Amino acid sequence: MPNTFKRTLVTTALPYANGPVHLGHLAGVYLPADIYVRFKRLCGHEVIHIGGSDEHGVPITITADREGITPQDVVDRYHAMNADAFSRCGISFDYYGRTSSVRHHETAREFFLDIERKGIFVRKTEKLFFDAKAGRFLSDRYVTGTCPVCGSPDANGDQCEQCGTHLSPLELIEPKSKLSDAKPELRDTLHWYFPLGRFQKQLESYVESHRETWRQNVVNYSRTWLNQGLADRAITRDLSWGIPLPLDEAEARGKVLYVWFDAVLGYISFTKEWAELQGDPERWKRYWQDPDTRIVNFIGKDNVVFHTLMFPAILMAWNEGRSEGRYELADNVPASEFMNFEGRKFSKSRNYAIYLGEFLDRFPADTLRYSIAMNYPENKDTDFSWTDFQNRTNGELADTLGNFIKRSVDFTNSRFDGEVPSDISAEEWNLLGIDWQESLGRLAEAYDGFHFREAATQTMEIARFANRFLTEAEPWKVIKVDREAAARTMAISLNLCHALSLLFYPVIPETCDRIRAMLGFDDAIGSLSSPGVPVWEAAALPGLSKGHRLKGSSEILFSKIEQADLEPELEKIARLLAEAEKREAGAQQQKMTFRPEITFDDFQKVDLRVARVLECEPVKKASKLLKMKLQVGSEERQVLSGIAQYYKPDEMVGKHVLLVANLAERTIRGELSQGMILAVEGKDGRLFVVEPQGTEIIGNSVQ
Ligand code: MF3
Ligand code: ZN
Repeated sequence: MPNTFKRTLVTTALPYANGPVHLGHLAGVYLPADIYVRFKRLCGHEVIHIGGSDEHGVPITITADREGITPQDVVDRYHAMNADAFSRCGISFDYYGRTSSVRHHETAREFFLDIERKGIFVRKTEKLFFDAKAGRFLSDRYVTGTCPVCGSPDANGDQCEQCGTHLSPLELIEPKSKLSDAKPELRDTLHWYFPLGRFQKQLESYVESHRETWRQNVVNYSRTWLNQGLADRAITRDLSWGIPLPLDEAEARGKVLYVWFDAVLGYISFTKEWAELQGDPERWKRYWQDPDTRIVNFIGKDNVVFHTLMFPAILMAWNEGRSEGRYELADNVPASEFMNFEGRKFSKSRNYAIYLGEFLDRFPADTLRYSIAMNYPENKDTDFSWTDFQNRTNGELADTLGNFIKRSVDFTNSRFDGEVPSDISAEEWNLLGIDWQESLGRLAEAYDGFHFREAATQTMEIARFANRFLTEAEPWKVIKVDREAAARTMAISLNLCHALSLLFYPVIPETCDRIRAMLGFDDAIGSLSSPGVPVWEAAALPGLSKGHRLKGSSEILFSKIEQADLEPELEKIARLLAEAEKREAGAQQQKMTFRPEITFDDFQKVDLRVARVLECEPVKKASKLLKMKLQVGSEERQVLSGIAQYYKPDEMVGKHVLLVANLAERTIRGELSQGMILAVEGKDGRLFVVEPQGTEIIGNSVQ
């Protein structure tokens, strides 16, 4: 892709400082971004990588409550842990900030106030649960109760874990506060909404103008939202943890900015903090307010609309009415799919994960970086397995790359006195069987197009070529009859080592520096290039001349991973998988706990009827729900049910079902539900609608 930008700002999604980052995060966001940034730097391009911790949001206060510590304790712990893990993994941030910083609070306030002053926010009063005992409004996650869809007794205020339905706390039956035993009461509360719809047209043209260059998933997610019409989004919350609303009004008291409103602005605040550290506080503007800068946001697919719609809309609101100090929008938002782990989704809440720090305690960063680059979930979900990791480390890194480098260096040390024994002409270099210009061009295209698996694969191909070249040339035999020919072979091999040290640098930087050291250099590759000084292209020419001295000793670049090394990991994974399966097999294996006893009279209160499905259709914006029209005797009822994942609307029509006919009416997602149909849970949480047999008489009661 022709790149006319003068410089690049790379940002990576800010991980919540609410837990350790795992390999899924690394694969989707941080490693690809780092590979990209290292490649651009090597090309002499001016680029900075900005990231940091997202330190606000309700999950953090929940962790703090659970552990009896303060939210600040929580974020201090995980910010330090994640910054350390990233640094051990070689993720070369230019700056790694935190959203609890003074500068960030100030930036977020500035944005809020600008948009508030322009009269863009819409204020709305809504009803929210309040815990009078705790003296706090209860955000969705602090309310629990019975799920209106599946009847599970401990659904959360935002979602029922049992059936997956997205809920609002108002939909819960018998809502309870998680903070105390007080019965939550509804109180009025005022909130500030961002009217995304006001920017609908601008956002549409923003997305459409990038439809050729953005990944399909990014365009599609954004279009789906745009097509539904953009609604107002609340950007304030009744919470004590976060950035307080910077308004004096009584109604603003006790409110903070919604975490997503402030988090995306973290990219800007952190660039400011970085600039201050450079001794040039205004320097951030050249990255955010100069159309010559290319902004690239690396994210996971679950963050797409926040980056293609929300964040741009906030910047559009800021830019409104300004001719100076306008912010530029991202040129690309490479969102990854997910990398699974041994066939299953990583899940922090279920503790089904390998954490980055833990991994690096056991295995070197570059073995992980390489394996993950080869599993980069670019267009579809991929899978990380221990066996794949072992095969790639042993077969590709150790046997191919490591073996080639060591043989080249060792033989030169022992037979040529540790010196490059010959000069290689550019012509000879080009006649080897690699078209260097073409190869480098293809690699650059892969990197620039964010095709990192492709780039790593092509580079390993070059290592394979080099390894084969040395094996087939057999200098250890040839030297006995033709020392000059063996010298040329070794000179070529050493130059291939040198080229590989540059070409592999974006993916396995630490290893490449070790190769460079063995080749007798005492500078690190990262220090060679600076803006305007390309080093990458040097790989297209022989970089070592006759007489250049190697370090004189060699080292093993990759030790093989033995089966015994993996045993503890495989045992752990077997345990985690067994736990997951047990959870899924559900009731059978679990100790049975039943709800409190009821009397026959209690049971008699439930009026169960046979009903027939007349019509059935999906519910807009509620992917789990089906809306059905039922016939019960002479009556018709409308019922919503959380079975959309398991039944197509057509399949339901004509079925006989069991209806709880005297359940109080409820409104779910703006739709009336007059009762509930019964379903049983099968494997993997799949629901099966109960279909009474042997009766054609609709409306009959169930005894
Ligand atoms: N903390 C969010 C998450 O982990 C991502 C925030 S990205 C940012 O999903 F843009 F808001 F910073
Ligand atoms: Zn449910």
